[in-house]
Amino acid sequence: MSVYAHVTGWGMAVPDKILTNDAIASMVETSDEWIRTRTGVRERRIANDEESTASLAAKAGMKALVKAQLKPTDVDLIIVSTSSPEYLFPSTASIVQNKIGASNAAAFDLSAACTGFIYALDLAAQTLKTGANKSALVIGAETLSRIVNWTDRNTCILFGDGAGAFVLQASEEPGGMLSSYLRSDGSGAELLMVPGGGSRNPASLDTVKQGKHFIQMNGREVFRFATRVMSRATKEVIERANLGINDISLVIPHQANIRIIEAAAKGLKLPKERFVINIGRYGNTSTASIPIAVSEAFEDGRLQAGDHIVLVGFGAGLTWGAVALTWTGPLPEREEVDIRRYQLMGRIRGFVMRWIRRIEGVMHRWTRRY
Ligand code: ACO
Repeated sequence: MSVYAHVTGWGMAVPDKILTNDAIASMVETSDEWIRTRTGVRERRIANDEESTASLAAKAGMKALVKAQLKPTDVDLIIVSTSSPEYLFPSTASIVQNKIGASNAAAFDLSAACTGFIYALDLAAQTLKTGANKSALVIGAETLSRIVNWTDRNTCILFGDGAGAFVLQASEEPGGMLSSYLRSDGSGAELLMVPGGGSRNPASLDTVKQGKHFIQMNGREVFRFATRVMSRATKEVIERANLGINDISLVIPHQANIRIIEAAAKGLKLPKERFVINIGRYGNTSTASIPIAVSEAFEDGRLQAGDHIVLVGFGAGLTWGAVALTWTGPLPEREEVDIRRYQLMGRIRGFVMRWIRRIEGVMHRWTRRY
């Protein structure tokens, strides 16, 4: 019996704080007009001091679980895709696992920049299709404002903070994830990177002085690469799903630049109306942009059960990829899952586990002494 991986839950979380183009124009030499016409961005969301990648990820993840009517304790796998993780380690996924009380889940981070959500989705779907897992929570989350150089007008105009999440569930019902196409070309690694703070350039006074902990980008080259790969990846997954371009009701692309999306539409000979575009309000939220756009498309009534859609992205690495899927839509309503209860139970469990570890440590030292 074949097993299929269905998207049964989705959710998004963005900070309340809005940073407009005019506000950026008071920080660096640029203008609202330049940013809007060259990128399509009008404003972006910026995390406040209490918010972080894990807090946004947990919020989006919980919304997706509510939509899927799935208890956190029933989640088998959590993948958080991010380029602005909570720490170098432990993984942001483990922090999220504790925050949402998903005490039976494996958790890890995935690094494929803006293509990360596509990579994570495909990986999670494969584990469902093999029978290894029954459910997975896939989250794309970023607080890029923390790694953007706010004095560099080439990059600071582009990025924003946010998170989006999908719940995937295994089912014998045909549909869900249909096909995927993932690629990488590391020869373009230096075109978009944060060069400091890793093992190549460990954090030091010098790396900080040189701004190596900020995003550095060759915008023109990334632009050329993106326009090359977006339509090609979309065509590839449509073909692999044995569909034609006219079977696709919506293409939901990574929101990096309106001109890149327009070039993809032209390459696919599709009207812009068949694309979901919300870059104006959020800027480039990297790996979070696709699940945020999907969540909004659903809320806007643009996604119906049975629709064939394509999600397509590109980013640092270089990486690029796409997935084709049949939209499952909301499941018939069952008993509402009280997520707050699981969150509270998770918090209590975390507290108890910390104390148990402390007591065990004291006991261990005591028994060694006597
Ligand atoms: N305001 C005003 N002028 C600017 C600004 C700005 N914010 N930024 C650059 N300029 C100037 C440049 O200095 C240049 O001036 P010059 O001609 O005197 O040298 C001129 O505008 C044109 O610069 P370009 O770099 O050619 O501008 P372009 O039209 O390529 O737009 C942009 C730049 C928006 C960055 C574009 O190249 C782009 O979107 N690239 C893709 C970036 C991207 O998608 N990155 C994310 C990938 S996803 C991930 O992994 C995170």
